[in-house]
Amino acid sequence: MRKVISVVGARPNFMKVAPLHRAFQKYSSIRHMIVHTGQHYDANMSKIFFEDLQLPQPDVYLGVGSGSHAAQTAKVMTEFEQVVLREKPDLVMVVGDVNSTLACSLVCSKLGTRVAHVEAGLRSFDRRMPEEINRLVTDAIADLLFVSEPSGITNLKKEGVADERVFFVGNVMIDSLIQFLEKARRSSILESIGISKKSYVLVTLHRPSNVDVKENLEQIFSMFEKMSEHGSIIFPIHPRTRKMIDQFGLSERVQHNKKLILTDPIGYVDFLCLLDSSSLVVTDSGGIQEETTYLGVPCLTMRENTERPVTVSEGTNQLMGFDYNAVLKESEKIFRSECKKGQIPKLWDGHAAERITKIVAEQILN
Ligand code: UD1
Repeated sequence: MRKVISVVGARPNFMKVAPLHRAFQKYSSIRHMIVHTGQHYDANMSKIFFEDLQLPQPDVYLGVGSGSHAAQTAKVMTEFEQVVLREKPDLVMVVGDVNSTLACSLVCSKLGTRVAHVEAGLRSFDRRMPEEINRLVTDAIADLLFVSEPSGITNLKKEGVADERVFFVGNVMIDSLIQFLEKARRSSILESIGISKKSYVLVTLHRPSNVDVKENLEQIFSMFEKMSEHGSIIFPIHPRTRKMIDQFGLSERVQHNKKLILTDPIGYVDFLCLLDSSSLVVTDSGGIQEETTYLGVPCLTMRENTERPVTVSEGTNQLMGFDYNAVLKESEKIFRSECKKGQIPKLWDGHAAERITKIVAEQILN
């Protein structure tokens, strides 16, 4: 029996590992284990995703919690090293670009355990983003690199990565989206919030560059005040953003705008429903740029760059930087239905995880 461990740590990891777990069940000679580092630990940042995505309880929970980047990364490394020494996996799968991704790939490379990176090759070319450092280091040391869009192949080639390590397989997050879209369309989240289809803007903002600077966060709420003249704004709040709103004394101002509806973080299926039914999404997330592209929903990304350029060249995404007036102007066009039309990128077809597990099986069973 061979053994593969997949690592999850933070919210954007769960929907990437769920289809991998399902695809591994087809291989009776491979035992697939899930290790949760505990980087995200609130019920609505973690537990609800296991339920929604029908993931089994993690085989191992490391419970590392929050901390500085160094402290969090170090703690994951120390704990995960014990797991690898005890379980002796034939291969470890890491996904995305969070601190847990970096920490676990480092542990594996030092112990001589093979590691595969899912969502490899993405580059924002902005080293001020912790995720960019995580991506660069993980790709430099991983043995197998599974790529979701053409830019990933170009970037890895430029970095001198050997072709044999790189596989263009498509997008596992879209596997989950396709699997759960029907269920999402039956969700009652719109009724419970009191909004109707295509009548609202959905917002997610949590990047330090947007929410950790008081002036930026204030400008964002001014922008919402203008935008809400056109309809409701639904803003599920990430714990980091919630903390900053309180710290900057903005809570009262936020509550004053009755069209701005702040909610706690929302589970996977309900959030997918909100995405699918929104008239516009404003975000600084990575994955949401891809989900809106698949769904054909207009997306304005409040970042200066994206590591997912296919969402701009082929999809519905537009990069707005931190230009709040530009976001307002674009959103007005979108409200007049002057939307950018997009198409679904190649291999975003619901079968990425099957391609990945087939390659992994070939590598570890032979
Ligand atoms: C992390 C990822 C980011 C990803 C995001 C998605 C890194 C470097 N960043 O950022 O790429 O887009 O997750 O959510 O790995 N907190 C809670 N409860 C939780 C988790 C966090 O209250 O369950 C609070 C903590 O106070 C913590 C803060 O949120 O200090 C930030 O959490 P952290 O995991 O450090 O980074 P994120 O901003 O969530």
